[in-house]
Amino acid sequence: MGDYNNNNNNTIINSVIKGVARTSIYVAATRAISTNKFIRQSRVDDDDDDADHHKQQQQQQVLSNYFVDHFYVDDLDDSFLDKNVTVYDPYAYFFSTHPQSVELLINNLLTVATAEEEEEDNNKSLNESIRETVTNYNPLHSWRHLMSTNAMLRGAKRTKLIDQLVLDNVVNNNQNNQNNQNNNNEKIKQVVVLASGLDTRHLRLPFDSDTKVFEIDLEQVIAYKRLILDQVTSHYITKPISQSTNTLLAADLLDSKHWTSLLESNGFNRSIPTFWLAEGLVMYFTEQQVHQLLSTISDLSSPHSQLLLHTLHPKVEERLDNTDINNHNQDNNQNNNNNNIINKNEFKYSTTDPESLIMKYAKSFQPIKTYNYQDIDQMFIGQVSQDTPLETSQFTLSIKK
Ligand SMILES: C[S@@+](CC[C@H](N)C(=O)[O-])C[C@H]1O[C@@H](n2cnc3c(N)ncnc32)[C@H](O)[C@@H]1O
Repeated sequence: MGDYNNNNNNTIINSVIKGVARTSIYVAATRAISTNKFIRQSRVDDDDDDADHHKQQQQQQVLSNYFVDHFYVDDLDDSFLDKNVTVYDPYAYFFSTHPQSVELLINNLLTVATAEEEEEDNNKSLNESIRETVTNYNPLHSWRHLMSTNAMLRGAKRTKLIDQLVLDNVVNNNQNNQNNQNNNNEKIKQVVVLASGLDTRHLRLPFDSDTKVFEIDLEQVIAYKRLILDQVTSHYITKPISQSTNTLLAADLLDSKHWTSLLESNGFNRSIPTFWLAEGLVMYFTEQQVHQLLSTISDLSSPHSQLLLHTLHPKVEERLDNTDINNHNQDNNQNNNNNNIINKNEFKYSTTDPESLIMKYAKSFQPIKTYNYQDIDQMFIGQVSQDTPLETSQFTLSIKK
C-alpha cells in the first residue's frame, strides 16, 4: 500500500485538492449525502418487501452497521432527494470529511463568502468563522450548503444510473433483464474504471470473486484514495460487498502508451470482454484527446466489451451561467481560481451526439442507448420532474461487435 508518511507522498496527497483532481472530492460529497438519505430511508422501511436483492443486501449491511451509529447525520438536509435515486456508499463519508477535503471545502466557502461580502478587509475573521462552522458541525452540512441542489441531484442520479447499468451488465448479466445488452452468454469479468476518482464501486457493488476491477486516475487521487480506504477498512466496519480483486493504478490517461502498458502489466487481459466506465472524464479533454482515448479503448477491447461514456451537452454552459451553482462562482473568469467548485474554463469537450462520436472513434462499438437525466427520473422515480434538465449530461452505453 505504500508509505504515506514520507514528505514526497504528503506532497502528492496534498495536491488532491488542486486542479482537476479536486473534482473527485465534489462527486464524493454528493454520494455521501445520497448515502445519508439511503440510511434515513432504510430506517423507515427496513422491511421493504419490494426492495431488490442488492438493495436488501445494502440495507442489511446498513442496519447492522457501526457506520450508522457513528456517521449518520440526523439533521442533514437531504429531503430534496427522492428515495429511489439514493445509493449506499459508506466510504464517501470519509472522503468528504477527511481534513484534506475539508480544506477544499473551506477554500470554496471562503471564495463564496468573499464574493458576497461588500467589504473585504475582514477576510481573516471570515476565514476563522467559516473554519469554526465547518468543524463544529458535521462537514456534510457545509458540503450541502456549498453545492447547489441541482448539482447534488445530478450527482446522486448519475451514480444510481451507472450502478444499475453495472449491476445489469456485469454483476447479474441476466439475459431477461431489459437493461442488459450483452447477447453473449459469456459473463464480463473485467471492469476498467477510467478516472475512477473516489468512486468505490469496486467495494460496494456485489462483484463476484472471478471479476477483476481496475481503476485508473492521477497519482494524487490514487494516493489519497488509498490513504483513506486503508484507514477506513482497518478502523471501521464498512465491509465490502464486492468479492472482486481490485487494482488501483496511478496514471495520466492522456499518456496512452503508459496507461495501457501499466494496465496490461497488472493483469488486464485484452482477449476477454471488458466493461469500460468513463464517468466525469472526457469533459476535461480536448476533442483530439477524446478521439485518442476512444480509439485506445477500442484497441484494447475484445468483442462483447461494453463502454459507458459520460459526456456533457454544450447547453450545460448556459445552465452554469444561470441556476446551477447558486451563482457562487460568477467571477471565476476574473480571479482564475482553479480550485473553485465549478470552473467553466476546465470544460473543454461537449457534444450533442455521443453516439456518432463513439461509432467514429471507438471503432466497432455500436451504441445501444443514451440516457439523460429525464430517462433516469423515468427509470427510478417513474415520472420526470419539471426541474430535471434535458441537456446537461448524457450517458451512452455501447457494445463492441
Ligand atoms: C469529476 S471527477 C470524476 C471521478 C469519478 N469518475 C466519479 O464520477 O466519481 C474527474 C476525475 O477525472 C480525473 N482525471 C482528469 N483528467 C485525468 C487524466 N488526464 N488522467 C487521469 N485522470 C484524470 C480526475 O483526477 C478526477 O478524479
